[in-house]
Amino acid sequence: MEIIRLVAETKAKISKFKEEGKSIGFVPTMGALHQGHLSLTEQSVKNNDITIVSIFVNPTQFNNPNDLKTYPRCIEDDLEKLSKYNPDIIFIPEVEEIYPEPDTRVFNFGQLDTVMEGKNRPGHFNGVAQVVSKLFDIVTPDNSYFGQKDFQQVAVIKQMVKDLKLSVNIVPCPIIREEDGLAMSSRNMLLSDVQRKNASKISETLFKARNLAAELNVTQLKNWVVEEINKNPYLSVEYFEIVDDTTLTQINSWDEDNVKVGCITVQVGKIRLIDNVTF
Ligand code: PAF
Repeated sequence: MEIIRLVAETKAKISKFKEEGKSIGFVPTMGALHQGHLSLTEQSVKNNDITIVSIFVNPTQFNNPNDLKTYPRCIEDDLEKLSKYNPDIIFIPEVEEIYPEPDTRVFNFGQLDTVMEGKNRPGHFNGVAQVVSKLFDIVTPDNSYFGQKDFQQVAVIKQMVKDLKLSVNIVPCPIIREEDGLAMSSRNMLLSDVQRKNASKISETLFKARNLAAELNVTQLKNWVVEEINKNPYLSVEYFEIVDDTTLTQINSWDEDNVKVGCITVQVGKIRLIDNVTF
């Protein structure tokens, strides 16, 4: 496990691996690693000759400066966790390495960026596309691994790969949950004990909603989920949408012939948590 901080050094290493005909797996992260990130790393190590994990808190994807400031950073702890999976390179660049000058690119993802997280965090996915495209350019991976908790992010990145005609294969990986069902997230560590305890109500309600879909229509179910979660004084639903898994357009009826995903964002005090379930 080699730690590299410079773009040029990373590129040189990778071009050597490529000359040797080795496949490259890539796991981009912002650190504060949990079992979700480690499961991506494990899969990459299993399915590629070389695995690179990046740890970079990308400033351009934070539309809220306080969120960027408080985003958890714990590199030593991250490195210890990663060492158990033995990826080949951990790429930990400084902001100036990734953005020697400001990135002024504006991506157009249409509908994918105007709903849910895109609507509620303007500029967020543009920042994600900026950094992921730069990282792909440096790492030139064959396969790149992303958690399905960030369901909309996966859709946006797949679209970006298509638009930029990149040859990387995007591998979505299942949500990893805590024992009580809460989707693992780096932000969970920012919750107080009482907030953390109550946050399990989010996944609990989504799982119940899956069963209730046989009895309630789409609108009734959406209202039920929002009311149920908002009953808890620690939780406040920002949105709950049930969407087509590819276009992210809203579903109006269970009869529609597509894969339906219920996506939620809940404010727990100052912390925003997201989760989703497939119906
Ligand atoms: O999902 C994340 O942690 C980030 O959005 C990503 C993909 C590493 C880009 O900064």
